[in-house]
Amino acid sequence: MCGIVGYVGTKKALPIIVKGLEALEYRGYDSAGIAYVENNHIQIIKKEGRIANLQEHLPDSPSTIGIGHTRWATHGEASYQNAHPHQVGKFTIVHNGIIENYQELKKVLEQENYVMKSDTDTEVACALLDYLYREERDIQKTIDKATKLLKGSYAFGILCEDDPESIYAIRCSSPLIVATKEQEQFIASDVPAILNDTNEYFLLDDFDLAVLRKDHVSFYHYGKEIQKEKIIFEGTVESSQKEGFPHFMLKEIYEQPQIVQNTIRFYFDGTKESLDNSLPNLEPYQSIHIVACGSAYHAGLVARTLIEEIVGIPVTCEIASEYRYKKVFYDSHTLVIVISQSGETADTLASLRKANADGIDTLAIVNVVGSSIAREAKQVLYTKAGCEIAVATTKAYTAQLAILSLLTLKLACIHHTLQEDEWLEIKEQLRTLPKEMENLILSKQYEEIAKQIYQQEDIFYLGRRLDYSISLEGALKLKEISYINSVSYPAGELKHGTISLIEDKTPVIGILTDANVMEKTMSNLEETSARGANVFAITTEPINTMKTILIPKKHLLWQSLLTIIPLQLLAYEIAKLRGSDIDKPRNLAKSVTVE
Ligand code: AGP
Repeated sequence: MCGIVGYVGTKKALPIIVKGLEALEYRGYDSAGIAYVENNHIQIIKKEGRIANLQEHLPDSPSTIGIGHTRWATHGEASYQNAHPHQVGKFTIVHNGIIENYQELKKVLEQENYVMKSDTDTEVACALLDYLYREERDIQKTIDKATKLLKGSYAFGILCEDDPESIYAIRCSSPLIVATKEQEQFIASDVPAILNDTNEYFLLDDFDLAVLRKDHVSFYHYGKEIQKEKIIFEGTVESSQKEGFPHFMLKEIYEQPQIVQNTIRFYFDGTKESLDNSLPNLEPYQSIHIVACGSAYHAGLVARTLIEEIVGIPVTCEIASEYRYKKVFYDSHTLVIVISQSGETADTLASLRKANADGIDTLAIVNVVGSSIAREAKQVLYTKAGCEIAVATTKAYTAQLAILSLLTLKLACIHHTLQEDEWLEIKEQLRTLPKEMENLILSKQYEEIAKQIYQQEDIFYLGRRLDYSISLEGALKLKEISYINSVSYPAGELKHGTISLIEDKTPVIGILTDANVMEKTMSNLEETSARGANVFAITTEPINTMKTILIPKKHLLWQSLLTIIPLQLLAYEIAKLRGSDIDKPRNLAKSVTVE
Protein backbone atom coordinates (compact mmCIF):
# COMPACT_ATOMS: atom_id res chain seq x y z
CA MET A 1 0.00 0.00 0.00
CA CYS A 2 1.11 3.64 -0.15
CA GLY A 3 4.16 4.92 1.72
CA ILE A 4 5.22 8.40 2.86
CA VAL A 5 8.73 9.63 3.73
CA GLY A 6 9.86 13.22 4.33
CA TYR A 7 13.19 14.70 5.36
CA VAL A 8 14.51 18.10 6.40
CA GLY A 9 18.04 18.44 7.75
CA THR A 10 21.64 19.10 6.86
CA LYS A 11 22.28 16.26 4.42
CA LYS A 12 21.21 15.75 0.81
CA ALA A 13 17.53 14.88 1.07
CA LEU A 14 16.96 12.77 -2.04
CA PRO A 15 19.10 9.71 -1.15
CA ILE A 16 17.64 9.66 2.37
CA ILE A 17 14.06 9.79 1.07
CA VAL A 18 14.79 7.06 -1.49
CA LYS A 19 16.22 4.80 1.23
CA GLY A 20 13.15 5.40 3.38
CA LEU A 21 10.82 4.59 0.49
CA GLU A 22 12.78 1.40 -0.21
CA ALA A 23 12.23 0.32 3.38
CA LEU A 24 8.48 0.58 2.72
CA GLU A 25 8.65 -1.34 -0.56
CA TYR A 26 7.27 -4.49 1.07
CA ARG A 27 3.88 -2.74 1.30
CA GLY A 28 3.52 -2.78 -2.47
CA TYR A 29 3.11 0.17 -4.84
CA ASP A 30 2.90 0.98 -8.51
CA SER A 31 4.51 4.43 -8.82
CA ALA A 32 6.86 6.61 -6.81
CA GLY A 33 7.72 10.28 -6.60
CA ILE A 34 9.61 12.95 -4.68
CA ALA A 35 9.18 16.71 -4.26
CA TYR A 36 12.18 18.68 -3.05
CA VAL A 37 13.11 22.32 -2.61
CA GLU A 38 16.00 23.74 -4.61
CA ASN A 39 16.74 27.47 -4.75
CA ASN A 40 13.44 28.08 -2.98
CA HIS A 41 11.49 26.30 -5.75
CA ILE A 42 9.63 23.03 -5.33
CA GLN A 43 10.68 20.45 -7.93
CA ILE A 44 8.76 17.23 -8.52
CA ILE A 45 10.01 14.01 -10.05
CA LYS A 46 7.69 11.02 -10.27
CA LYS A 47 7.65 7.80 -12.25
CA GLU A 48 5.46 4.78 -12.83
CA GLY A 49 6.82 1.47 -11.57
CA ARG A 50 9.63 0.72 -9.15
CA ILE A 51 11.63 3.09 -6.95
CA ALA A 52 14.73 2.06 -8.92
CA ASN A 53 13.11 3.61 -11.97
CA LEU A 54 12.52 6.87 -10.10
CA GLN A 55 16.05 6.80 -8.76
CA GLU A 56 17.52 6.72 -12.26
CA HIS A 57 15.83 10.05 -12.96
CA LEU A 58 16.78 11.86 -9.77
CA PRO A 59 19.44 14.58 -10.03
CA ASP A 60 22.35 14.92 -7.60
CA SER A 61 20.57 17.82 -5.92
CA PRO A 62 21.98 19.73 -2.93
CA SER A 63 18.42 20.05 -1.60
CA THR A 64 18.09 19.26 2.12
CA ILE A 65 14.30 19.10 2.27
CA GLY A 66 11.74 16.95 0.49
CA ILE A 67 8.76 14.59 0.67
CA GLY A 68 8.45 11.23 -1.12
CA HIS A 69 5.71 8.74 -1.80
CA THR A 70 5.06 5.27 -3.12
CA ARG A 71 1.51 4.96 -4.49
CA TRP A 72 -0.71 1.90 -4.64
CA ALA A 73 -3.44 3.02 -7.00
CA THR A 74 -6.84 3.65 -5.42
CA HIS A 75 -8.39 6.59 -7.33
CA GLY A 76 -7.33 6.32 -10.93
CA GLU A 77 -4.89 3.98 -12.64
CA ALA A 78 -1.17 3.71 -11.98
CA SER A 79 0.13 6.55 -14.15
CA TYR A 80 2.46 9.53 -14.10
CA GLN A 81 -0.45 11.94 -13.67
CA ASN A 82 -1.91 10.06 -10.73
CA ALA A 83 1.43 9.47 -8.99
CA HIS A 84 2.27 11.61 -5.95
CA PRO A 85 3.41 14.26 -5.06
CA HIS A 86 0.60 16.46 -6.34
CA GLN A 87 1.03 20.19 -6.70
CA VAL A 88 -1.68 22.83 -6.91
CA GLY A 89 -0.79 26.52 -6.63
CA LYS A 90 1.48 27.03 -3.67
CA PHE A 91 1.01 23.56 -2.16
CA THR A 92 2.64 20.21 -2.86
CA ILE A 93 1.47 17.12 -0.99
CA VAL A 94 1.85 13.37 -0.58
CA HIS A 95 -1.10 11.45 0.81
CA ASN A 96 -2.00 8.03 2.19
CA GLY A 97 -5.66 7.15 2.68
CA ILE A 98 -8.91 7.94 0.93
CA ILE A 99 -10.80 11.26 0.85
CA GLU A 100 -14.41 10.10 0.72
CA ASN A 101 -16.01 13.43 -0.21
CA TYR A 102 -13.50 14.36 -2.91
CA GLN A 103 -16.07 14.40 -5.71
CA GLU A 104 -18.14 16.94 -3.80
CA LEU A 105 -15.09 19.10 -3.03
CA LYS A 106 -13.90 18.80 -6.62
CA LYS A 107 -17.12 20.32 -7.93
CA VAL A 108 -16.78 23.30 -5.61
CA LEU A 109 -13.11 23.80 -6.48
CA GLU A 110 -13.77 23.53 -10.20
CA GLN A 111 -16.26 26.36 -9.85
CA GLU A 112 -13.35 28.32 -8.37
CA ASN A 113 -11.40 27.64 -11.59
CA TYR A 114 -9.22 24.81 -10.34
CA VAL A 115 -8.52 22.33 -13.14
CA MET A 116 -7.53 18.85 -11.94
CA LYS A 117 -4.89 17.03 -13.94
CA SER A 118 -5.28 13.65 -12.27
CA ASP A 119 -8.09 11.30 -11.20
CA THR A 120 -6.93 11.39 -7.60
CA ASP A 121 -8.60 12.46 -4.40
CA THR A 122 -5.17 13.74 -3.35
CA GLU A 123 -5.03 16.47 -5.97
CA VAL A 124 -8.43 17.67 -4.78
CA ALA A 125 -7.12 17.86 -1.19
CA CYS A 126 -4.12 19.82 -2.46
CA ALA A 127 -6.34 22.24 -4.36
CA LEU A 128 -8.45 22.67 -1.24
CA LEU A 129 -5.35 23.73 0.71
CA ASP A 130 -4.40 26.23 -1.96
CA TYR A 131 -7.93 27.59 -2.10
CA LEU A 132 -8.26 28.01 1.67
CA TYR A 133 -4.79 29.57 1.85
CA ARG A 134 -5.78 32.35 -0.54
CA GLU A 135 -8.02 33.70 2.19
CA GLU A 136 -6.18 32.56 5.35
CA ARG A 137 -2.58 33.41 4.33
CA ASP A 138 -1.48 31.24 7.25
CA ILE A 139 -0.31 27.69 6.52
CA GLN A 140 -1.20 26.13 9.87
CA LYS A 141 -4.67 27.68 9.96
CA THR A 142 -5.20 26.57 6.37
CA ILE A 143 -4.35 22.97 7.16
CA ASP A 144 -6.53 22.95 10.27
CA LYS A 145 -9.40 24.40 8.30
CA ALA A 146 -8.99 21.77 5.59
CA THR A 147 -9.30 18.96 8.16
CA LYS A 148 -12.77 20.25 9.01
CA LEU A 149 -13.83 19.88 5.37
CA LEU A 150 -12.13 16.61 4.44
CA LYS A 151 -13.98 13.36 5.15
CA GLY A 152 -12.23 10.02 5.14
CA SER A 153 -8.73 8.94 6.13
CA TYR A 154 -5.49 10.69 5.41
CA ALA A 155 -1.87 11.15 6.31
CA PHE A 156 -0.38 14.17 4.56
CA GLY A 157 3.17 15.39 4.04
CA ILE A 158 2.92 19.02 2.88
CA LEU A 159 5.29 21.56 1.35
CA CYS A 160 4.28 25.20 0.78
CA GLU A 161 6.13 27.53 -1.54
CA ASP A 162 5.80 30.37 1.02
CA ASP A 163 7.72 28.43 3.69
CA PRO A 164 10.34 26.45 1.75
CA GLU A 165 12.28 25.37 4.85
CA SER A 166 9.44 23.45 6.55
CA ILE A 167 7.51 20.24 6.14
CA TYR A 168 3.97 20.15 7.53
CA ALA A 169 2.38 16.83 8.49
CA ILE A 170 -1.07 15.89 9.69
CA ARG A 171 -3.17 12.75 9.84
CA CYS A 172 -6.63 11.31 10.43
CA SER A 173 -7.10 7.52 10.68
CA SER A 174 -4.02 6.78 8.61
CA PRO A 175 -0.66 6.23 10.32
CA LEU A 176 2.04 8.90 10.36
CA ILE A 177 5.11 9.31 12.54
CA VAL A 178 7.62 12.10 13.05
CA ALA A 179 11.20 11.07 13.77
CA THR A 180 14.01 13.21 15.03
CA LYS A 181 17.82 13.14 15.22
CA GLU A 182 19.68 16.33 16.19
CA GLN A 183 19.72 18.49 13.05
CA GLU A 184 17.55 16.10 11.03
CA GLN A 185 13.79 15.54 11.11
CA PHE A 186 11.69 12.95 9.28
CA ILE A 187 8.09 12.03 8.60
CA ALA A 188 7.07 8.50 7.63
CA SER A 189 3.97 6.39 7.32
CA ASP A 190 5.70 3.46 8.95
CA VAL A 191 8.65 2.91 11.29
CA PRO A 192 10.97 0.94 8.93
CA ALA A 193 11.37 4.08 6.79
CA ILE A 194 13.32 5.90 9.53
CA LEU A 195 15.33 3.06 11.00
CA ASN A 196 18.35 3.68 8.78
CA ASP A 197 18.78 7.03 10.54
CA THR A 198 17.12 6.95 13.95
CA ASN A 199 14.97 4.85 16.23
CA GLU A 200 13.36 7.81 18.03
CA TYR A 201 9.98 8.96 16.88
CA PHE A 202 6.68 10.57 17.83
CA LEU A 203 3.31 9.09 16.98
CA LEU A 204 0.88 11.67 15.60
CA ASP A 205 -2.68 11.44 16.89
CA ASP A 206 -5.59 12.44 14.67
CA PHE A 207 -5.42 16.15 13.76
CA ASP A 208 -2.05 16.73 15.46
CA LEU A 209 -0.14 19.04 13.16
CA ALA A 210 3.65 18.68 13.05
CA VAL A 211 5.87 21.44 11.67
CA LEU A 212 9.36 20.19 10.89
CA ARG A 213 12.36 22.48 10.41
CA LYS A 214 16.01 21.50 10.16
CA ASP A 215 16.73 21.83 13.87
CA HIS A 216 13.31 21.56 15.45
CA VAL A 217 9.89 19.91 15.36
CA SER A 218 6.81 21.58 16.86
CA PHE A 219 3.46 19.94 17.41
CA TYR A 220 0.08 21.68 17.47
CA HIS A 221 -3.50 20.58 17.95
CA TYR A 222 -5.84 23.07 16.29
CA GLY A 223 -3.52 25.99 16.92
CA LYS A 224 -2.46 25.10 20.45
CA GLU A 225 1.16 23.97 20.83
CA ILE A 226 1.40 20.51 22.46
CA GLN A 227 4.15 18.22 23.69
CA LYS A 228 4.39 14.66 22.38
CA GLU A 229 5.98 11.69 24.05
CA LYS A 230 9.05 10.32 22.30
CA ILE A 231 9.01 6.59 21.51
CA ILE A 232 12.19 4.51 21.20
CA PHE A 233 11.90 1.63 18.76
CA GLU A 234 13.72 -1.39 20.22
CA GLY A 235 13.40 -3.98 17.42
CA THR A 236 15.04 -4.67 14.07
CA VAL A 237 13.99 -3.43 10.62
CA GLU A 238 12.35 -6.80 9.95
CA SER A 239 10.36 -6.78 13.18
CA SER A 240 9.26 -3.21 12.47
CA GLN A 241 7.81 -4.29 9.14
CA LYS A 242 5.71 -6.75 11.08
CA GLU A 243 4.26 -3.79 12.99
CA GLY A 244 4.42 -5.66 16.26
CA PHE A 245 2.91 -8.90 14.95
CA PRO A 246 4.97 -12.04 15.63
CA HIS A 247 4.52 -13.21 12.02
CA PHE A 248 3.75 -11.64 8.67
CA MET A 249 0.98 -14.19 8.23
CA LEU A 250 -0.85 -12.90 11.29
CA LYS A 251 -0.32 -9.29 10.24
CA GLU A 252 -1.72 -10.11 6.81
CA ILE A 253 -4.75 -11.87 8.32
CA TYR A 254 -5.40 -8.70 10.36
CA GLU A 255 -5.14 -6.53 7.24
CA GLN A 256 -7.96 -8.35 5.49
CA PRO A 257 -10.98 -6.23 6.50
CA GLN A 258 -9.25 -3.11 5.17
CA ILE A 259 -8.00 -4.82 2.03
CA VAL A 260 -11.36 -6.33 1.17
CA GLN A 261 -12.93 -2.91 1.68
CA ASN A 262 -10.28 -1.19 -0.48
CA THR A 263 -10.59 -3.78 -3.23
CA ILE A 264 -14.36 -3.58 -3.35
CA ARG A 265 -14.44 0.23 -3.14
CA PHE A 266 -11.93 0.51 -5.94
CA TYR A 267 -14.29 -1.19 -8.39
CA PHE A 268 -17.73 -0.63 -6.89
CA ASP A 269 -19.27 2.49 -5.35
CA GLY A 270 -22.68 0.89 -4.79
CA THR A 271 -23.98 1.62 -8.28
CA LYS A 272 -24.42 -0.64 -11.29
CA GLU A 273 -22.69 2.07 -13.36
CA SER A 274 -19.47 1.67 -11.38
CA LEU A 275 -19.46 -2.07 -12.16
CA ASP A 276 -19.98 -1.17 -15.82
CA ASN A 277 -17.17 1.34 -15.84
CA SER A 278 -14.53 -0.38 -13.74
CA LEU A 279 -14.91 -4.03 -14.73
CA PRO A 280 -14.48 -5.48 -18.22
CA ASN A 281 -17.39 -5.92 -20.58
CA LEU A 282 -18.74 -9.42 -19.83
CA GLU A 283 -21.72 -9.35 -22.18
CA PRO A 284 -20.23 -11.49 -24.96
CA TYR A 285 -19.57 -14.51 -22.74
CA GLN A 286 -21.82 -17.54 -22.36
CA SER A 287 -19.33 -19.64 -20.42
CA ILE A 288 -16.28 -19.06 -18.27
CA HIS A 289 -13.12 -21.07 -17.63
CA ILE A 290 -11.25 -20.23 -14.43
CA VAL A 291 -7.65 -21.42 -14.26
CA ALA A 292 -5.23 -21.12 -11.35
CA CYS A 293 -3.06 -22.98 -8.82
CA GLY A 294 -3.25 -23.57 -5.08
CA SER A 295 -5.22 -20.98 -3.12
CA ALA A 296 -5.97 -19.01 -6.27
CA TYR A 297 -7.59 -22.18 -7.65
CA HIS A 298 -9.63 -22.43 -4.44
CA ALA A 299 -10.81 -18.84 -4.95
CA GLY A 300 -11.81 -19.90 -8.47
CA LEU A 301 -13.88 -22.79 -7.07
CA VAL A 302 -15.81 -20.33 -4.92
CA ALA A 303 -16.43 -18.16 -7.98
CA ARG A 304 -17.67 -21.17 -9.94
CA THR A 305 -20.41 -21.78 -7.38
CA LEU A 306 -21.26 -18.08 -7.16
CA ILE A 307 -21.58 -17.59 -10.90
CA GLU A 308 -23.46 -20.82 -11.51
CA GLU A 309 -25.86 -20.22 -8.61
CA ILE A 310 -26.41 -16.47 -8.93
CA VAL A 311 -26.00 -15.92 -12.68
CA GLY A 312 -26.78 -19.32 -14.15
CA ILE A 313 -24.06 -19.66 -16.77
CA PRO A 314 -21.66 -22.63 -16.91
CA VAL A 315 -18.23 -22.24 -15.32
CA THR A 316 -15.36 -24.70 -15.23
CA CYS A 317 -12.55 -24.25 -12.74
CA GLU A 318 -9.32 -26.07 -13.49
CA ILE A 319 -5.90 -26.50 -11.95
CA ALA A 320 -3.50 -24.74 -14.31
CA SER A 321 -0.96 -27.58 -14.47
CA GLU A 322 -3.75 -29.78 -15.87
CA TYR A 323 -5.44 -27.20 -18.06
CA ARG A 324 -2.30 -26.34 -19.96
CA TYR A 325 -1.98 -29.92 -21.25
CA LYS A 326 -5.60 -31.00 -21.66
CA LYS A 327 -7.96 -30.71 -24.56
CA VAL A 328 -9.98 -27.59 -23.91
CA PHE A 329 -13.37 -26.75 -25.35
CA TYR A 330 -13.77 -23.02 -25.76
CA ASP A 331 -14.87 -20.53 -28.36
CA SER A 332 -15.36 -16.82 -28.92
CA HIS A 333 -18.12 -16.78 -26.27
CA THR A 334 -15.80 -18.16 -23.59
CA LEU A 335 -13.85 -15.98 -21.22
CA VAL A 336 -10.74 -17.52 -19.64
CA ILE A 337 -10.03 -16.01 -16.20
CA VAL A 338 -6.61 -16.70 -14.70
CA ILE A 339 -6.03 -15.90 -11.03
CA SER A 340 -2.62 -15.38 -9.45
CA GLN A 341 -1.22 -13.47 -6.50
CA SER A 342 2.33 -13.32 -7.87
CA GLY A 343 1.40 -13.08 -11.53
CA GLU A 344 4.41 -15.29 -12.26
CA THR A 345 3.14 -18.84 -11.59
CA ALA A 346 4.50 -20.91 -14.48
CA ASP A 347 1.49 -23.19 -15.03
CA THR A 348 -1.01 -20.34 -14.83
CA LEU A 349 1.09 -18.29 -17.25
CA ALA A 350 1.27 -21.25 -19.65
CA SER A 351 -2.51 -21.71 -19.51
CA LEU A 352 -2.97 -18.02 -20.22
CA ARG A 353 -0.61 -18.23 -23.21
CA LYS A 354 -2.49 -21.25 -24.51
CA ALA A 355 -5.82 -19.37 -24.44
CA ASN A 356 -4.21 -16.25 -25.92
CA ALA A 357 -2.68 -18.30 -28.73
CA ASP A 358 -6.09 -19.83 -29.47
CA GLY A 359 -7.54 -16.33 -29.78
CA ILE A 360 -9.74 -16.68 -26.68
CA ASP A 361 -10.45 -13.60 -24.53
CA THR A 362 -8.48 -13.65 -21.30
CA LEU A 363 -8.81 -11.76 -18.04
CA ALA A 364 -6.22 -11.91 -15.25
CA ILE A 365 -6.89 -11.28 -11.56
CA VAL A 366 -3.45 -10.47 -10.19
CA ASN A 367 -1.91 -8.86 -7.12
CA VAL A 368 1.58 -7.94 -8.32
CA VAL A 369 1.41 -4.97 -10.65
CA GLY A 370 3.30 -5.36 -13.91
CA SER A 371 3.90 -9.11 -13.43
CA SER A 372 4.06 -11.44 -16.47
CA ILE A 373 0.44 -12.63 -16.19
CA ALA A 374 -0.78 -9.06 -15.74
CA ARG A 375 1.10 -7.95 -18.84
CA GLU A 376 0.14 -10.87 -21.09
CA ALA A 377 -3.58 -11.15 -20.33
CA LYS A 378 -5.88 -9.23 -22.64
CA GLN A 379 -7.41 -7.56 -19.57
CA VAL A 380 -6.28 -7.34 -15.98
CA LEU A 381 -7.94 -6.58 -12.66
CA TYR A 382 -5.64 -5.92 -9.73
CA THR A 383 -6.40 -7.13 -6.23
CA LYS A 384 -5.57 -4.35 -3.81
CA ALA A 385 -3.87 -6.57 -1.25
CA GLY A 386 -0.49 -4.84 -1.13
CA CYS A 387 2.74 -6.79 -0.85
CA GLU A 388 2.12 -10.23 0.65
CA ILE A 389 5.17 -11.58 2.42
CA ALA A 390 4.02 -14.76 4.21
CA VAL A 391 4.28 -17.75 1.88
CA ALA A 392 0.84 -18.98 2.93
CA THR A 393 -1.50 -16.56 1.27
CA THR A 394 -4.35 -14.99 3.23
CA LYS A 395 -5.04 -11.39 2.25
CA ALA A 396 -4.39 -11.92 -1.47
CA TYR A 397 -6.81 -14.85 -1.43
CA THR A 398 -9.59 -12.81 0.21
CA ALA A 399 -8.92 -9.93 -2.20
CA GLN A 400 -9.35 -12.45 -5.06
CA LEU A 401 -12.67 -13.55 -3.54
CA ALA A 402 -13.75 -9.90 -3.34
CA ILE A 403 -13.06 -9.27 -7.05
CA LEU A 404 -14.67 -12.55 -8.09
CA SER A 405 -17.80 -11.57 -6.14
CA LEU A 406 -17.91 -8.25 -7.99
CA LEU A 407 -17.56 -10.03 -11.34
CA THR A 408 -20.47 -12.26 -10.30
CA LEU A 409 -22.49 -9.18 -9.39
CA LYS A 410 -21.78 -7.61 -12.77
CA LEU A 411 -22.74 -10.81 -14.59
CA ALA A 412 -25.94 -10.98 -12.53
CA CYS A 413 -26.82 -7.45 -13.67
CA ILE A 414 -26.15 -8.36 -17.31
CA HIS A 415 -28.28 -11.52 -17.07
CA HIS A 416 -30.97 -9.82 -14.94
CA THR A 417 -30.87 -12.57 -12.33
CA LEU A 418 -31.12 -10.34 -9.26
CA GLN A 419 -34.40 -8.91 -8.00
CA GLU A 420 -34.19 -5.32 -6.76
CA ASP A 421 -34.56 -6.37 -3.09
CA GLU A 422 -31.70 -8.88 -3.39
CA TRP A 423 -29.49 -6.22 -5.02
CA LEU A 424 -30.27 -3.84 -2.14
CA GLU A 425 -29.57 -6.57 0.43
CA ILE A 426 -26.21 -7.35 -1.19
CA LYS A 427 -25.25 -3.67 -1.13
CA GLU A 428 -26.45 -3.17 2.44
CA GLN A 429 -24.49 -6.18 3.70
CA LEU A 430 -21.27 -4.64 2.39
CA ARG A 431 -21.52 -1.91 5.01
CA THR A 432 -21.02 -4.29 7.92
CA LEU A 433 -18.71 -6.80 6.24
CA PRO A 434 -15.32 -5.30 7.28
CA LYS A 435 -16.44 -5.01 10.92
CA GLU A 436 -17.72 -8.58 10.91
CA MET A 437 -14.41 -9.77 9.48
CA GLU A 438 -12.58 -7.82 12.15
CA ASN A 439 -14.71 -9.28 14.96
CA LEU A 440 -13.95 -12.80 13.74
CA ILE A 441 -10.23 -12.00 13.61
CA LEU A 442 -10.26 -10.63 17.15
CA SER A 443 -12.15 -13.62 18.59
CA LYS A 444 -10.08 -15.56 21.11
CA GLN A 445 -11.53 -19.04 20.54
CA TYR A 446 -9.04 -20.38 17.96
CA GLU A 447 -6.16 -20.85 20.39
CA GLU A 448 -8.33 -22.96 22.71
CA ILE A 449 -9.42 -25.26 19.86
CA ALA A 450 -5.86 -25.43 18.55
CA LYS A 451 -4.69 -26.70 21.94
CA GLN A 452 -7.13 -29.59 21.67
CA ILE A 453 -5.95 -30.80 18.27
CA TYR A 454 -2.42 -29.61 17.46
CA GLN A 455 -0.77 -32.92 18.33
CA GLN A 456 -2.84 -34.93 15.86
CA GLU A 457 -1.25 -36.01 12.59
CA ASP A 458 -4.45 -36.12 10.49
CA ILE A 459 -7.25 -33.58 10.35
CA PHE A 460 -10.30 -33.77 8.11
CA TYR A 461 -12.35 -30.89 6.73
CA LEU A 462 -15.88 -31.48 5.47
CA GLY A 463 -18.36 -29.27 3.62
CA ARG A 464 -20.72 -29.20 0.70
CA ARG A 465 -20.84 -26.81 -2.27
CA LEU A 466 -19.41 -23.40 -1.32
CA ASP A 467 -18.46 -24.74 2.11
CA TYR A 468 -16.43 -27.49 0.46
CA SER A 469 -14.49 -24.94 -1.65
CA ILE A 470 -13.66 -22.98 1.48
CA SER A 471 -12.72 -26.09 3.40
CA LEU A 472 -10.16 -26.92 0.68
CA GLU A 473 -8.46 -23.61 1.39
CA GLY A 474 -8.66 -24.19 5.17
CA ALA A 475 -7.02 -27.60 4.79
CA LEU A 476 -4.30 -26.18 2.52
CA LYS A 477 -3.51 -23.42 5.05
CA LEU A 478 -3.11 -25.99 7.78
CA LYS A 479 -0.90 -28.40 5.84
CA GLU A 480 1.31 -25.59 4.50
CA ILE A 481 2.27 -24.16 7.85
CA SER A 482 1.74 -26.95 10.41
CA TYR A 483 2.81 -29.95 8.28
CA ILE A 484 -0.26 -31.86 9.52
CA ASN A 485 -1.86 -34.10 6.92
CA SER A 486 -5.10 -32.20 6.51
CA VAL A 487 -7.53 -33.15 3.80
CA SER A 488 -10.84 -31.79 2.68
CA TYR A 489 -13.75 -33.85 1.40
CA PRO A 490 -17.21 -33.10 0.08
CA ALA A 491 -19.15 -34.18 3.16
CA GLY A 492 -21.30 -36.72 1.30
CA GLU A 493 -18.28 -38.47 -0.20
CA LEU A 494 -16.59 -39.53 3.03
CA LYS A 495 -18.63 -42.67 3.51
CA HIS A 496 -17.46 -43.94 0.11
CA GLY A 497 -14.08 -44.86 1.52
CA THR A 498 -12.30 -42.21 3.56
CA ILE A 499 -14.43 -42.70 6.65
CA SER A 500 -12.25 -45.76 7.34
CA LEU A 501 -9.54 -43.32 8.44
CA ILE A 502 -11.68 -41.82 11.21
CA GLU A 503 -10.73 -43.16 14.62
CA ASP A 504 -10.91 -42.11 18.23
CA LYS A 505 -10.16 -38.34 18.62
CA THR A 506 -9.52 -37.70 14.89
CA PRO A 507 -10.30 -33.98 14.48
CA VAL A 508 -13.03 -33.27 11.92
CA ILE A 509 -13.86 -29.68 11.06
CA GLY A 510 -17.23 -29.18 9.40
CA ILE A 511 -18.23 -26.02 7.53
CA LEU A 512 -21.94 -25.30 7.64
CA THR A 513 -23.05 -21.97 6.19
CA ASP A 514 -25.33 -23.14 3.38
CA ALA A 515 -28.90 -23.58 4.63
CA ASN A 516 -29.79 -25.82 1.67
CA VAL A 517 -27.35 -28.54 2.67
CA MET A 518 -26.72 -27.80 6.33
CA GLU A 519 -28.70 -30.74 7.68
CA LYS A 520 -27.04 -33.15 5.26
CA THR A 521 -23.57 -32.02 6.33
CA MET A 522 -24.61 -32.25 9.97
CA SER A 523 -25.61 -35.89 9.47
CA ASN A 524 -22.22 -36.57 7.90
CA LEU A 525 -20.50 -34.98 10.88
CA GLU A 526 -22.62 -37.12 13.23
CA GLU A 527 -21.43 -40.18 11.32
CA THR A 528 -17.81 -39.29 12.07
CA SER A 529 -18.65 -38.44 15.65
CA ALA A 530 -20.24 -41.87 16.08
CA ARG A 531 -16.83 -43.31 15.10
CA GLY A 532 -15.00 -41.33 17.76
CA ALA A 533 -14.12 -38.15 15.83
CA ASN A 534 -13.56 -34.90 17.70
CA VAL A 535 -15.93 -32.68 15.69
CA PHE A 536 -15.90 -28.88 15.41
CA ALA A 537 -18.41 -26.96 13.33
CA ILE A 538 -17.87 -23.55 11.76
CA THR A 539 -21.44 -22.53 11.31
CA THR A 540 -23.90 -19.69 10.81
CA GLU A 541 -26.53 -21.41 13.03
CA PRO A 542 -26.03 -22.44 16.67
CA ILE A 543 -25.77 -26.26 16.98
CA ASN A 544 -26.20 -27.67 20.47
CA THR A 545 -24.80 -31.11 19.77
CA MET A 546 -21.33 -29.99 18.62
CA LYS A 547 -18.48 -27.67 19.52
CA THR A 548 -19.02 -24.68 17.28
CA ILE A 549 -17.46 -21.47 16.00
CA LEU A 550 -20.39 -19.23 15.19
CA ILE A 551 -19.99 -16.84 12.24
CA PRO A 552 -22.42 -14.25 10.84
CA LYS A 553 -24.81 -15.27 8.06
CA LYS A 554 -24.34 -13.32 4.82
CA HIS A 555 -25.55 -13.43 1.25
CA LEU A 556 -23.83 -16.22 -0.73
CA LEU A 557 -21.78 -13.53 -2.49
CA TRP A 558 -20.00 -12.38 0.70
CA GLN A 559 -20.23 -15.46 2.94
CA SER A 560 -16.82 -16.94 2.04
CA LEU A 561 -15.05 -13.75 3.12
CA LEU A 562 -16.17 -14.52 6.67
CA THR A 563 -16.02 -18.32 6.65
CA ILE A 564 -12.33 -18.42 5.74
CA ILE A 565 -11.18 -16.35 8.71
CA PRO A 566 -11.61 -18.96 11.48
CA LEU A 567 -9.88 -21.50 9.21
CA GLN A 568 -6.88 -19.22 8.65
CA LEU A 569 -6.54 -18.45 12.34
CA LEU A 570 -7.00 -22.06 13.38
CA ALA A 571 -4.18 -23.06 11.02
CA TYR A 572 -2.04 -20.25 12.40
CA GLU A 573 -2.61 -21.16 16.06
CA ILE A 574 -1.97 -24.86 15.43
CA ALA A 575 1.27 -24.10 13.55
CA LYS A 576 2.37 -21.80 16.37
CA LEU A 577 1.84 -24.52 18.95
CA ARG A 578 3.82 -26.94 16.79
CA GLY A 579 6.65 -24.41 16.55
CA SER A 580 6.87 -24.38 12.76
CA ASP A 581 8.39 -21.62 10.65
CA ILE A 582 5.06 -19.96 9.86
CA ASP A 583 6.15 -17.30 7.38
CA LYS A 584 8.58 -19.51 5.47
CA PRO A 585 7.31 -23.08 5.61
CA ARG A 586 9.65 -25.83 4.50
CA ASN A 587 9.78 -26.69 0.78
CA LEU A 588 7.56 -23.80 -0.29
CA ALA A 589 8.23 -20.68 -2.35
CA LYS A 590 6.11 -17.57 -2.55
CA SER A 591 6.16 -17.60 -6.30
CA VAL A 592 6.26 -20.90 -8.21
CA THR A 593 7.95 -20.09 -11.51
CA VAL A 594 8.74 -23.69 -12.47
CA GLU A 595 6.44 -26.47 -13.65
C1 AGP B 1 -1.05 -20.59 -0.94
O1 AGP B 1 -0.92 -20.38 0.41
C2 AGP B 1 0.15 -21.08 -1.62
N1 AGP B 1 1.32 -20.44 -1.23
C3 AGP B 1 -0.01 -21.47 -3.06
O2 AGP B 1 -0.99 -22.47 -3.12
C4 AGP B 1 -0.36 -20.37 -4.07
O3 AGP B 1 -1.67 -19.96 -3.89
C5 AGP B 1 -0.13 -20.93 -5.50
O4 AGP B 1 1.21 -21.31 -5.64
C6 AGP B 1 -0.51 -19.95 -6.57
O5 AGP B 1 0.31 -18.82 -6.51
P1 AGP B 1 -0.10 -17.49 -7.28
O6 AGP B 1 -1.37 -17.02 -6.69
O7 AGP B 1 1.04 -16.57 -7.05
O8 AGP B 1 -0.27 -17.86 -8.72
